[in-house]
Amino acid sequence: MAVHPITLRVNGREYSGQAEARKTLADFIREDCGLTGTHLGCEHGVCGACTILMDGEAVRSCLLFAVQAEGADLKTVEGLADGDRLHPIQQAYWDHHALQCGFCTPGFLMTTVAFLRDNPRPTEREIREGLAGNLCRCTGYQNIVEAVAAAAEALASGAIAQAAAPHGVVPRAAVPAPLPPARAAAAVDGIVRRARRRRKAVAVKKTSKRQRKRSR
Ligand code: FES
Ligand code: FES
Repeated sequence: MAVHPITLRVNGREYSGQAEARKTLADFIREDCGLTGTHLGCEHGVCGACTILMDGEAVRSCLLFAVQAEGADLKTVEGLADGDRLHPIQQAYWDHHALQCGFCTPGFLMTTVAFLRDNPRPTEREIREGLAGNLCRCTGYQNIVEAVAAAAEALASGAIAQAAAPHGVVPRAAVPAPLPPARAAAAVDGIVRRARRRRKAVAVKKTSKRQRKRSR
């Protein structure tokens, strides 16, 4: 099968390689870039373990082909810490015991980075809605919600924003200001709509799978 040249940036470093058109971005990141912090769980867009930032937006790398990321700027979990110093969101997860086996954690962290950038002062409900697309089989979610709330508080302090700045993961404001109510409501509506669409897509997939099984 034909291969295609691919050049992209991950965590500020350029990577070049070749991939068949069918190779997922997640596999390219893990196999060609050697960055195995991005995990693969379901491989069909449900669990969120493979979440990364692509040009600043949280995406599921198992649902993208590597060729679609040609020229893109990616951020993976490896790009969060500054040497031995954890990113404030990682530190909050650590402090609040927001992980057990840790398999889901890279995806949760990257989702949290994008979520808190867009909604720096979320309510508990907004946090739950914002993370609704990520699945964890261990924690029961409560500690994750507490970690995200703590990270939001930490990021609101100038010192922490400064700590995050070298990684470019909190790029929109050094000290986040509250969103205007209309924008906050629109953002939450968007999150809820996307979560509903995802749930619907999963339900449709399950139904057609059942139907296929019955018709065999
Ligand atoms: S591995 Fe990508 S969403 Fe589950
Ligand atoms: S910590 Fe084990 S799946 Fe989330």
